[in-house]
Amino acid sequence: IKVAVLFGGRSSEHAVSCVTAAGVLGAIDKDKYDVVAIGIAKNGQWVLAGTEIADWSLTSGAMPEVSPAGRSVSLSHLGGGHQLVISESSRVPEELGGVDVVFPLLHGPWGEDGTIQGLLELSDTRYVGAGVAASAIGMDKHFMKVVFEAAGLAVGPYVAVSDRAWSVDPESVRAKVAALGFPVFVKPARGGSSMGISKVDGPDGLDSAIAEARKYDLKLVIEAGITGREIEVAVLEGRGSDRPRVSLPGEISVVDGTHQFYDFDAKYVQGTAVNLSCPAEMPAVDISRVRDLAAVAFDAVGAEGLSRVDFFYTPSGELIINEINTMPGFTPSSMYPQMWAASGLPYPQLIDELLQLALS
Ligand code: DAL
Ligand code: MG
Repeated sequence: IKVAVLFGGRSSEHAVSCVTAAGVLGAIDKDKYDVVAIGIAKNGQWVLAGTEIADWSLTSGAMPEVSPAGRSVSLSHLGGGHQLVISESSRVPEELGGVDVVFPLLHGPWGEDGTIQGLLELSDTRYVGAGVAASAIGMDKHFMKVVFEAAGLAVGPYVAVSDRAWSVDPESVRAKVAALGFPVFVKPARGGSSMGISKVDGPDGLDSAIAEARKYDLKLVIEAGITGREIEVAVLEGRGSDRPRVSLPGEISVVDGTHQFYDFDAKYVQGTAVNLSCPAEMPAVDISRVRDLAAVAFDAVGAEGLSRVDFFYTPSGELIINEINTMPGFTPSSMYPQMWAASGLPYPQLIDELLQLALS
């Protein structure tokens, strides 16, 4: 079975995707799967990746990157069955051959947002994870909230800010944000790995936080800060069941006081800044509740394959959904594979299961 692993990409989460790919490539069963690793450079060029990627990590502070100087490849569709063909520009397609399934290990825009999924749909190629619409909704922190609310999930107070609203009437945006009450979190609507996110404690810091978030996306979501523990659940498509499988919940706590929240640095660079525990210590009734809610969120956006669903668990026992990630990280410090491992599904089996779901 030929698997094309795609990673890197044009988004700001390029380096995270590289480390995700390193993890997955290390765990994939090479006897069962014939793997072609394709890196997408930041300029969008597709190149064949070598074995150096196995050593990639983020903890050194260095950001791994796909070099566009590698051997370029292109994808083509010859028609007839699920035959996406990868070819090296200078060679005939048969040398790299047809692909049975693509594992798009891409985070953020142009990868997790339905765009690559659309390309794969066009070429009638099987791939791991959510389809076009679910990926696009799961990428947009505004649209996902609209869908979650419609499904009856508790969503925290927020304001969605379009480029037009901010450009034409910033005063009205400031007033709406003030009405949420501080602190607020200013976020690019379509981002990931906490990039471009700032915590704002009062009106004075708002404009600069908005300017920062707009470097990543001109559409923003500004959320009221919620006091609560951060609880996450890993979801995996069901088999022979109308319900997806849900892991035990995990908890993230930032243990290093220099981090105001679970930011990029705490997440990936400083291995000791956060404490991940699974199962989270919660009363059994709340464990069962959060797992049910994660399944509802997965189905609400129409996800397929996998997703990680993140919640706030408030002191009064409320479970407020924060977001869904349709292609969560698979780095050594990522919650998704760790929660499955703690729930009895080790990393290599998880990868196998994801590929098999895509092929079935
Ligand atoms: N966006 C990062 C990769 C995550 O959700 O894990
Ligand atoms: Mg996200």
